[in-house]
Amino acid sequence: MKSDQEKIVVTYALPYANGQLHLGHSLGFIETDIFIRSLKLFRKEALFICASDMHGTPIEVKAKEAGIDPEKFAEQFSKSQQSDLKDLLVEFDNFHKTHSKENKGLAELFFKTLKEKKLIYLKETEQMYDSQANQFLPDRFVKGTCPKCGGEDQYGDACEKCGATYNPTELKTPYSVLTKTKPILKKSTHYYFKLKEMSPKITSWLKNDKTIQPEIRNFIEGWLKEGLQDWCISRDAPYFGFEIPESKKEAGAIKYFYVWLDAPIGYISSTKNYCDKQSGKKKSSWEDYWMNGSVYHFIGKDIIYFHYLFWPAMLMAMNIPVPKITTHGFITVNGQKMSKSRGTFFTLKDFLSIYSAESLRFYYANHLDRKVVDIDFNFSDFQAVTNNVLVANIGNFCYRTLVFANKNYGKITQVTEEKSLQRKIEKHLKSIKEHYSNQNFKDAVKLILQIADEGNSYFQKAEPWKNPEMKQDEVGFCVNLARTLSIILQPILPSFSEKVQGSLSGKSKKSLYWDDIVFNWKGTVKKPELLMSKVEVPLETPVFPLLIKSGKIVEVKDHPNADSLYVMTVDIGNEKRQVVAGLKKHFTVKELVGKKALFLVNLKKAKIRGEMSEAMTLVAEDKDHKITLLEVDSNLGSNACFEEMNPPELSSEVSFEDFVKIKMAVKDGRVNFDGKNLQVDGRDVVVKVKDGSKIC
Ligand code: MSP
Ligand code: ZN
Repeated sequence: MKSDQEKIVVTYALPYANGQLHLGHSLGFIETDIFIRSLKLFRKEALFICASDMHGTPIEVKAKEAGIDPEKFAEQFSKSQQSDLKDLLVEFDNFHKTHSKENKGLAELFFKTLKEKKLIYLKETEQMYDSQANQFLPDRFVKGTCPKCGGEDQYGDACEKCGATYNPTELKTPYSVLTKTKPILKKSTHYYFKLKEMSPKITSWLKNDKTIQPEIRNFIEGWLKEGLQDWCISRDAPYFGFEIPESKKEAGAIKYFYVWLDAPIGYISSTKNYCDKQSGKKKSSWEDYWMNGSVYHFIGKDIIYFHYLFWPAMLMAMNIPVPKITTHGFITVNGQKMSKSRGTFFTLKDFLSIYSAESLRFYYANHLDRKVVDIDFNFSDFQAVTNNVLVANIGNFCYRTLVFANKNYGKITQVTEEKSLQRKIEKHLKSIKEHYSNQNFKDAVKLILQIADEGNSYFQKAEPWKNPEMKQDEVGFCVNLARTLSIILQPILPSFSEKVQGSLSGKSKKSLYWDDIVFNWKGTVKKPELLMSKVEVPLETPVFPLLIKSGKIVEVKDHPNADSLYVMTVDIGNEKRQVVAGLKKHFTVKELVGKKALFLVNLKKAKIRGEMSEAMTLVAEDKDHKITLLEVDSNLGSNACFEEMNPPELSSEVSFEDFVKIKMAVKDGRVNFDGKNLQVDGRDVVVKVKDGSKIC
């Protein structure tokens, strides 16, 4: 028999398993976790489904750089991300991966069905090809001069200087990031999905789904007005993904599904994986959720194109209902975009090693109201909200009530009835429930705080400490309020809630539901654990003292007074510096001019044999004193820094003595310090020299 309860699946965007989760990622996970926990609190039959997104070029490249198999590489990050999310108190019913048998099966089923419906066709295109590396080049592997503004050294898909987007074939003087050679154009046949043909269906979905956020609706209407273009769903080797069946025969070479084809299918395949693992009467199928139940997606604003066009179009073609989607804005830190070079980048792991998950959950809940706006993580705000609201208001009320009740009575046997206050609170409860259901957590928090305020002033007015024996019924009322708070805050503060309920429950450890709220609960009160803690230490990431920038050697001259020295001019982005370097024994002028390498730019400036040196060329030196430049392929002026550390201010200065104390050496073809690799523009700096070579 079909249960009359609607089956619900809630998902959050599947994080790429190619790095650590950061403070930004945590926003969406927290938002989704609050929502799913609220559904469960209302006794809905809901699952929180997620997975690691394992496919695509970046994973392929990073795994290759690290010298490991892409699947293993992704598997490692998947594990560490899941453990971070657990620490964030995000609780999944299933966390799977896109590189799985379920996902392969479903991706192939989607592909086959769409093909049968004539929604997929083959088309020959011309693409950039690196004939030295023998491979087609993805957009980010081609760089060159921007066709719009002439900005140098821009990626193949977009210009960071003027914001223009274009095709890699439009770049002036293009070169391959892999071999630095000029790419050629080569024909390749690809699979396309007829997105254009789906426009009318998308238009009517847009009209009928009233849950689409207005800001997002505007975007989609704009895209539809401009006219949709068919979507290329295949990629050439090398690619970490699923092979497209028959592609060798049909397209002349093995093709892979583009990561964005199989990634959203991962939502379904993770549901399927969950269902397949269940047994007994409760066993259900993914179709029970996706075809006959309800699905809610939560995503960040950078991936709306995929979730509001490609994915619905595929689902419509498969006759699967389109889920309800909520999009959130981005996290900025102290008013700035999260970035390593600005010192505003925090991994979730680092953050949670200093602060509690619940202070972050509460801070975000305080801002979330289903509007697509960016949310600033402002440290002093965070400290104030945690210390003055979370701890001082909610924590304080519950803690003092429970401690007082435990110490003076041990067991509550009498509770006073406070009719008018109860009515007021009941009205709040009704609205709080609605706010949770509408994903308006901000307003739910506001009302919850009012209830805690009522509690605090009630306790204060009752003055039970003056005459405890006479006040049990009033303290009993406060115990009921604390119990109520533990229930209504459970979606946001699950651990706080568990502690409060643990002090009241007696034997059963199962958490309470919304409909367990009463005002006349009686029973034993145990001494509660500490409920929450203040934010005291400031938010800082470790700063690496050396400021290392990528620069281009634009001119090399002989030093007028020294035979072994060159005087070079180096372009480090927005300025040029004169650098005196002892490279003459090792390189000719020709070998140096035009090279892009790393320079230490905050070393105290010094005159060397009469010539000013305003930076130092960094090199690797092996045991036999062979010198190699630290060549990089990055934007001019980009900061190089070790993973999870931040570079210092430009105005900071180090002495040569300080510099030599910092031991950097080559390990596995990477520049290593303290077990961490040097990175620039988000990628490891690679040096092909013997391990153990010193950086100097
Ligand atoms: N793998 C894709 C999603 C596939 S869904 C079928 C992806 N992964 S991601 O790891 O790059 O991003 C995961 C989520 O984190 C996305 O929802 C993204 O919007 C979100 N965020 C990444 N940086 C963020 C901030 N700075 N702030 C808020 N959310 C951010 O995209
Ligand atoms: Zn440009």
